[in-house]
Amino acid sequence: MPDILKYDVLVIGSLNADLVVRAPHFPKPGETISGDDLHIIPGGKGANQAVAAARQGANVAMIGRVGKDSFGPFLVESLKSDHVNTSQVLADESATGTAIIVVDSSGQNSIVLSAGANGNVSVQDINELDVEAKVLLLQLEIPLETVIHAAKWGKQKGMIVILNPAPARELPDELIASVDYIVPNETELNLLTGIPVTDIFSAEQAARILLARGAKNVIVTLGSRGALLVSDEQAVQVDAYKVDVVDTTAAGDAFIGGFASYLTLESDSSLSDVQQHPQGTRASALQMINAVKYANACGALAVTKFGAQPSLPTKEEVEKFIS
Ligand code: RIB
Repeated sequence: MPDILKYDVLVIGSLNADLVVRAPHFPKPGETISGDDLHIIPGGKGANQAVAAARQGANVAMIGRVGKDSFGPFLVESLKSDHVNTSQVLADESATGTAIIVVDSSGQNSIVLSAGANGNVSVQDINELDVEAKVLLLQLEIPLETVIHAAKWGKQKGMIVILNPAPARELPDELIASVDYIVPNETELNLLTGIPVTDIFSAEQAARILLARGAKNVIVTLGSRGALLVSDEQAVQVDAYKVDVVDTTAAGDAFIGGFASYLTLESDSSLSDVQQHPQGTRASALQMINAVKYANACGALAVTKFGAQPSLPTKEEVEKFIS
């Protein structure tokens, strides 16, 4: 019988070809504007998070689907070049997922997704997996039914399950309560809770609503205000690093990949106030804060470069930046 494959980080999620144009501002409804050259860049929240973790030294596998068009191999090869295992990225008859992205002069983006093959990632795909991992990363660019199943599957297998509820949408308590960490930005947290998230106070208030709905740890990414970690035991704000913004695309993905890899690679079993995860992977309150600090550095570096996967920092870049 073949050995079960074991990874630090398993990502079940999307792969997109990002079709990106820089423009002076976002077009208004009915307006046509001229932008820069078109760039075709490997992206997709799932694939970005896989690359983000792999560049921090984690052993990563990606589960997802692409089409049999030219974008499919382009995305798979990009993952392989970052040593992400793609043996279970399936190619089907749909088009590969695409994201139409406009980046304005301040580095903010506006994105329209066409799910394509990402919309075919199924419960059956998960049931056929024979893998083990310390951390499972999930986002919302594949069918919700599959995400819910994957979260329960991952917990059953003893993985630490991290959900990035992006793109923003409402979620059932069943999913919120199945994961170990939920990592929304302000917009996603607002949509999940109905609370307008405008500052740290409202972010904590909204995060506590998720705790009441069964979440164990909520990490709110707050852009230039850093991140807020809220659990029953603590509410800690971690400051952002100040950087020049070129393009915010994939900053959240860099944060999550950095957070996940920190949890798997830097676990400190000597700390006593531990939160026990199955499989012996433990995250103490201090370790969680350190992981958020590290993730903040990953996210900060990502905004200093253009594009999704090309902007994701390496471990060496993050360590140099922090020091
Ligand atoms: O998080 C950034 C990503 O969102 C882009 O790469 C794009 O593909 C969309 O999925």
